[in-house]
Amino acid sequence: MKITNICCIGAGYVGGPTMAVIAHKCPDIKVTIVDLNAERIAAWNDENTDNLPVYEPGLDQIVLSARGRNLFFSTDVEKAIDEAQMIFISVNTPTKTYGLGKGKAADLKYIELCARQIAAVAKDDKIVVEKSTLPVRTAEAVKNILDSTGNGVKFQILSNPEFLAEGTAVEDLLNPDRVLIGGDTDAEGQAAINALVDVYANWIPKERILTTNVWSSELSKLTANAFLAQRVSSINAMSELCEKTGADVNEVARAIGMDSRIGPKFLKSSVGFGGSCFQKDILNLVYIAKSYGLDEVADYWEQVIIMNDHQKRRFAANIVKTLYNTVSGKKITFLGWAFKKDTNDTRESAAIYVADDLLHEQANIAVFDPKVEETTIFRDLDYLATRKPEENKAGVTVYQDPYEACRGTHAIAVLTEWDEFKGYDWQKIYDNMKKPAFVFDGRNVLNGKELKEIGFIFTGVGKAY
Ligand code: NAD
Ligand code: UDX
Repeated sequence: MKITNICCIGAGYVGGPTMAVIAHKCPDIKVTIVDLNAERIAAWNDENTDNLPVYEPGLDQIVLSARGRNLFFSTDVEKAIDEAQMIFISVNTPTKTYGLGKGKAADLKYIELCARQIAAVAKDDKIVVEKSTLPVRTAEAVKNILDSTGNGVKFQILSNPEFLAEGTAVEDLLNPDRVLIGGDTDAEGQAAINALVDVYANWIPKERILTTNVWSSELSKLTANAFLAQRVSSINAMSELCEKTGADVNEVARAIGMDSRIGPKFLKSSVGFGGSCFQKDILNLVYIAKSYGLDEVADYWEQVIIMNDHQKRRFAANIVKTLYNTVSGKKITFLGWAFKKDTNDTRESAAIYVADDLLHEQANIAVFDPKVEETTIFRDLDYLATRKPEENKAGVTVYQDPYEACRGTHAIAVLTEWDEFKGYDWQKIYDNMKKPAFVFDGRNVLNGKELKEIGFIFTGVGKAY
């Protein structure tokens, strides 16, 4: 089957960029991205691409190349489902915050709603593609719902997890290490797989398009994120040991990364990983393992999260300890709030948890982030529900100018590795700060030697300064 009409449910960080790239690369395919969130859809349709709801380098150009030609953003979910041959489900699958599996299992209510809506609307056969990250065997539940109408419409379910990382989404989508497609092993399943392979083959070499059975595909996504997060927790575990022993975590990372079996990527020690995926997907893996009675497997992966929580906590604790055991009433400046550079996404950002700890210590926090809006910062803090919103408002001030954020401050903490931080006039910042002037570089991006020469008391992660 040649695909000429695609619908994607969910216009978020994955649905938006992924489908924009498909539309950009496949001018013969009409791609409609739908979402219940009318504000988000309006932002995707905004003439001014500065207002797109997702910030990713290069995304504006991709959207402009296809929007109105073969790329459409709409709130009319039913129409788009009805017209499409292939429907991607790219809705959010957050950690459950209630009931059975609370705090661990993935909340699949949005997935189920999509399946029910597709079942209700579809009048002809459809290929349904799981783009969201899902627990292994979710395709079975999706199929049960789709097949429950008894109206003779046939559905094929594919799993096509997304491996893009935020901040490099466009690059990752244009040139992925691999695309993974899982489907049924029978002839109809293989035909559906081939239909999707043909879409990607418009720009991706065939040898990088991997096909598997559905369960391998679903589980591979959770496995990939668990392995990646584990690397960060492993190097972060070593960072603490480095600080005690005189070793330098960057040197250790370089030394082990040159072993081709280990490799150099994803070995940057930090204040702890954030983002909407790693923690959620590992917790989900832990839950799945436990549900099969595999306690050792569950405990093994849970340790990655425990280590990450510890890394965030000890960064905050070190600030308090270094500032003579009290930050009460002291201005502490955060450079960066996003969970990594080149994104406006703050979900699970380490900054949120470090701020929370310092607010408990009665610090006055000043925040500057080049892409994150003030409302997002307060929403993140309020979501924790550790204190009243008015207390968060009283304890945190958001600045539009980094030099103002740093004026009169006792200490600067780098929470995100934005490139621009390196180019600031650090002498000017120093001159306008309280003395002694402290810098805590949670991303090891600043030049500690130069800062110390200026007069700062400088601390990074994983090195005794
Ligand atoms: P998101 O929250 O940014 O976007 C999801 C969108 O789906 C929202 O705009 C929401 O309004 C919409 N939605 C929910 N239910 C809907 C429904 N019934 N009908 C129409 N719209 C609906 O989430 P995201 O970051 O794009 O993640 C989506 C999925 O992709 C998740 O499963 C996530 O784990 C996975 N994933 C995310 C990333 C990433 O970097 N963010 C990478 C790979 C995979
Ligand atoms: C991750 C996966 O990389 C991606 O394949 C998947 O599709 C979604 O989840 P993402 O969360 O967008 O992507 O960004 P990633 O680059 O993986 O970074 C996650 C967190 O780990 C960030 O907070 C980042 O700063 C941190 N990190 C990453 C480190 O602290 N050190 C590293 O060496 C790498």
